Amino acid sequence: MLSRLPLFPISSQINEAGHLSIGGCDTVGLAAEFGTPLYLFDESNLRSSCAEFRNGFGRFYPDSKVVYACKAFINRALAAIFAGEGLGLDVVSAGELAIARSADFPMERIYFHGNNKSAEELEQALELGIGRIVVDNLHELKMLEEIAGRRGLKPDILLRLLPGVDPHTHRYISTGIIDSKFGFPLPRAEEAVAQAMLSSSLNLVGLHSHIGSLIFEVDPYLRAVDVVLDFAVAMGERYGFKISELNIGGGYAIRYTMDTPAPPVSNYAEAISSRITTRCRKLGLALPRLIVEPGRAIVGRSGVALYKVGAVKDIPGIRRYVAVDGGMGDNIRPALYEARYEAVAANRMNAEESGKVTIAGKFCESGDVLIRDIVMPALSSGDIVALPCCGAYCLPMASNYNASLKPAVVLVGEGKARLIRRRETFDDLTGCDLDWKAG
Ligand code: LLP
Repeated sequence: MLSRLPLFPISSQINEAGHLSIGGCDTVGLAAEFGTPLYLFDESNLRSSCAEFRNGFGRFYPDSKVVYACKAFINRALAAIFAGEGLGLDVVSAGELAIARSADFPMERIYFHGNNKSAEELEQALELGIGRIVVDNLHELKMLEEIAGRRGLKPDILLRLLPGVDPHTHRYISTGIIDSKFGFPLPRAEEAVAQAMLSSSLNLVGLHSHIGSLIFEVDPYLRAVDVVLDFAVAMGERYGFKISELNIGGGYAIRYTMDTPAPPVSNYAEAISSRITTRCRKLGLALPRLIVEPGRAIVGRSGVALYKVGAVKDIPGIRRYVAVDGGMGDNIRPALYEARYEAVAANRMNAEESGKVTIAGKFCESGDVLIRDIVMPALSSGDIVALPCCGAYCLPMASNYNASLKPAVVLVGEGKARLIRRRETFDDLTGCDLDWKAG
């Protein structure tokens, strides 16, 4: 299983005991100490992903900023790490904003996204003085103008455009095509620019597009850049709009399985930067500041899920099911997107592979399968299975289905493990229920 090691955080090794070690911590020891399912994040990998984006884009486009899309996963510890790394934060709800606040994240570095922000959320964003509001639709534009006007403010805004570009990804995570709930299709966008430019309570600083997630090709980004910059020129001519910020969203792919390598960040950075530079020169536009919003590519590889094997069931001639103590409750991605993962036996990294198994979860759904048909060493009850690339969109999409408890999270590095989120308790499950008497 040496061959799967590159999917795990950079610091991953096999130690003398034949166990998977990450950040200098024995994962089998972590499972024993903190229980399973357990999510761990490797601090040095988190920081190096931040640097990879900062430097990757900075090298080709000096006036660029990295804004972490925190829907991929955020909690107080991670927010503090990203603040220290100089990143901004893309939030999509008052909840994500509350987590950012609790970590004293600098409000001016926050971008507020969302296709249906409430009046309360907009009030709060203005109250807190967050950096930018990315306006999604005319309803929101009108509401924001009214709220800002009433408060005597003039927030910096971007408009989210729907560039009509197919990013060739799963349809559930494709957002750039015209039939999408996100953003302004171009004719509507013109109305929005006209209104924003006339308003004394809105400061239109730029345009945004996010075409989807887990995008392995660079080309769709380039087409989105063209559409957005052409639109910016037209709006300059008609309404005097100047684009000082171009936000091209997130979507950068990571390698989940050995057979699906992803392009390095520098490939996206070089191609996107050079397209913006040449296009702006051709169109006679001053170079705008470039904002990129990676989520998955910042946290994905840093996160690992540890499970304990329970029942192993053979259906002769058909399949061997190995059941673990988590599943769709903490990782809905295989059930929702047919997402593929790989795994290793963390307590027997040097064991020979023995045959195909299907790693199933413990939830009451047949679709609760984490990995179908993966070659593993013989697994039995008590073994620890580690899934790589679980840092993005597992924990934030976790549920309490079957009244399961959401897992604990530890941060590992330099041989130390720190609990950064405790496991839920049964009291957490019942804590929101109120006393009630029949009759
Ligand atoms: N910016 C905006 C406006 C977004 O909507 C998103 C993700 C991102 C940035 C970050 O995209 P990333 O770099 O992480 O691909 N739950 C799905 C992914 C949903 C992505 C939603 N928007 C999954 O598990 O694959």
